[in-house]
Amino acid sequence: MAKIELKSLEHRYESSHKGKSAFAIEDLNIAWEDGTANALLGPSGCGKTTILNIISGLIKPTSGEVLFDGTRVNDLPTRERHIAQVFQFPVVYDTMSVFDNLAFPLRNRGQDESVVRARTGEIMELLDLSKLANTKSGSLNPAEKQIVSLGRGIARTDTMAVLLDEPLTVIDPVLKLDLRRKLRLAQHELKLTMIYVTHDQHEALTFADHVTIMKDGAVMQSDTPEALFLTPRTPFVGYFIGSPGMNRLPCEKTSTGLSVAGSPIAIQESIGLAANKLDGTIELGIRPEFVETSIEEKPSWNRMAIRSVDYAGAYQVLNLESGTVRIKARVEERFPSQEGDFIWAHFPADKTHIYVDGERLDR
Ligand SMILES: Nc1ncnc2c1ncn2[C@@H]1O[C@H](COP(=O)(O)OP(=O)(O)OP(=O)(O)O)[C@@H](O)[C@H]1O
Ligand SMILES: [Mg+2]
Repeated sequence: MAKIELKSLEHRYESSHKGKSAFAIEDLNIAWEDGTANALLGPSGCGKTTILNIISGLIKPTSGEVLFDGTRVNDLPTRERHIAQVFQFPVVYDTMSVFDNLAFPLRNRGQDESVVRARTGEIMELLDLSKLANTKSGSLNPAEKQIVSLGRGIARTDTMAVLLDEPLTVIDPVLKLDLRRKLRLAQHELKLTMIYVTHDQHEALTFADHVTIMKDGAVMQSDTPEALFLTPRTPFVGYFIGSPGMNRLPCEKTSTGLSVAGSPIAIQESIGLAANKLDGTIELGIRPEFVETSIEEKPSWNRMAIRSVDYAGAYQVLNLESGTVRIKARVEERFPSQEGDFIWAHFPADKTHIYVDGERLDR
């Protein structure tokens, strides 16, 4: 396995519906360390598949470099890059047994049959496929076929990285969790460099140690799941990660503090002082789980009306409003209030982010 790096990478497709000059990806710099579990997360069309295809060599980038363990591979053909790619839909030979499917990439590389047997056995063990070893792949259900596909992806020992493009799309939601766990186990046991592409934040955050969030062909933030949650670098990241996402409050400075489209908001003094020193557009961000709420009046908190309540089993989400200020607050399932009630909401300073011109202020 290898460390995979992209340096100042750009790609422009010849025929793009966005117009000839539109970049599919622009000025990308990402490093994925050897033997780590990574996710590439972003909305449809942000360039995830383009990146995987550039790493494997299926697409030649317009400019920039692809490095494996520090060596430039831009001019290496796909076959010599030793990248394993797993796609959305299973790629298995229906007429072959599960064993032969898994052994195929190894035999194809001329491995000794004893090595083939040992490695195929190890992969079947990791993915719980041993009992299906002699089953013809054509008779497997779609989930089993995709597990075999994943197995084929990780079978070779000489690969530089395993790239997975939305690999669990065809899998039933109940089985997804189990399959993700198996995949994670295989990654860990075999110390694979994995890049897992998805537009599902839950999948990315539960699978990977390191998640890169993309939007419109650019990296918004590359970080641990915890850092993405606690210190989102841009309002987009704060909103994209979390359920519901971070509250975003575009603010204006006033003589007494901050307001949102004319409605003053109560904030802690340190936030007001920090914001008042800044030039540029200011946005506050606070996650629904960090908004403090009280059904009793609290001085210097925000008096807000409960517009509606979304029940989510173990918790509720209150949709709160005060003038033009609209926020969500996540509260416990038994929170004693309902639509139409007024409550008091507080934004603790240490959980409130200040964004200046779209970038988080480090305080
Ligand atoms: N063969 C192509 N020709 C022209 N434009 C393309 C081609 N493939 C992708 N694009 C454009 O490049 C951009 C990035 O596409 P890409 O497929 O990499 O996104 P993605 O993040 O994988 O999306 P999805 O989540 O839908 O799979 C999009 O604007 C897309 O329309
Ligand atoms: Mg894609």
